[in-house]
Amino acid sequence: MQFHPFELERFLSEYEQTVEYNFTESGVHPVTLGELLAMAGDDAGALLETPLNYPHVNGTPLLRQRIAARYPGAGEENILVTVGASEANLLAATTLLQPGDEIVTTRPTYLQFGGIARNMGVTVRTVDLLEEEGWALDLEGLERLVTERTKVLAVVNPNNPTGHIFTPAEMDAVVDAARRADAWLLADEVYAGAEREQAEETPTFYGRYEKLIALNSLSKAYGLPGLRIGWMVGPAETIQALWRRHEYAAVSASMLGNRLAEIALSPPVRPQLIARTRGLIRDGYDVLTAHLARHSDIFSVVAPQASALSFVRYRLTMGSTEFAKALRASQSVLMVPGDAFGLDRHLRIQSALPLDYLEAGLARFDEFVANIGGHHG
Ligand SMILES: Cc1ncc(COP(=O)(O)O)c(C=O)c1O
Repeated sequence: MQFHPFELERFLSEYEQTVEYNFTESGVHPVTLGELLAMAGDDAGALLETPLNYPHVNGTPLLRQRIAARYPGAGEENILVTVGASEANLLAATTLLQPGDEIVTTRPTYLQFGGIARNMGVTVRTVDLLEEEGWALDLEGLERLVTERTKVLAVVNPNNPTGHIFTPAEMDAVVDAARRADAWLLADEVYAGAEREQAEETPTFYGRYEKLIALNSLSKAYGLPGLRIGWMVGPAETIQALWRRHEYAAVSASMLGNRLAEIALSPPVRPQLIARTRGLIRDGYDVLTAHLARHSDIFSVVAPQASALSFVRYRLTMGSTEFAKALRASQSVLMVPGDAFGLDRHLRIQSALPLDYLEAGLARFDEFVANIGGHHG
């Protein structure tokens, strides 16, 4: 079977450590260890006593309790702690899918689950998010594509790269489509909590259907990607099956990751992290749109409802991979080409960054655009 690399992550690992201005992160500017402990009012004393042993393979009981408390009806037995949402997506694919199966995902989306499935010999069908309708889900396409052949319907809500949050009607349609096909519903909810405009947090799909796995992590809405802590929530027997794969894949996440995640999800700290994330997202987006408005003949963007990301459309003949490479080579500024999401003539730009960094990087972007501005397509 032919192996297809994860093009987005390959692009990032090749360039992200060497550019001067990096706009490719998919979370917000990360929290430091000191900031996290300060939010907890902890002088780090207790943490220094942590034995650097393996933690519970499925996650420490306190961490699983804190996670379960966020899902209506869930208990510790419904939770598996993983090495980021990345491991969660891998375990979901290897547990639920066989070669020859069929899945449905959206386009655009974060391509990890679909990419793993494809490498397993699974057929991947995509239903569109419609840019001209504010990235609304193509309900007619969903109806047509999700059939009795569909093993898993995989959604990312809020969506990466568009920041679209499903409306209640779209959530209902997704659940109904999965139920009608007797398919698993895999809901990647890593951007819940990272809402830009609304105060209300994006509701989880968990509890809406029996054959459902919700996954999440501390990497995006919490600003803690370096902890490498993610989790899965699902039926207890499915969690057991996922846990058996987790023992092969990673054994466990790290002890320090588990301990710091307990702190991050504790009642006094979690709201502080979410407020910090939202502040960065809101301020940064305003700076980005001010820069894009200088070239309104070239760029347009459907305002993201959540996430630190904007999926910006441009009107130039140059393809998005070529655009991103030229921008990096001439200005040392990195942005993700729409090609990495199967939608050319777009750039994914992260803007939840310190404002001086954002302004300086976008000034270089302006210069680059001014130089190519003649090549409209
Ligand atoms: C939608 C989505 N899911 C999962 C991940 C993986 O994140 P992590 O492994 O850091 O939790 C990402 C990272 O970009 C993502 O955007």
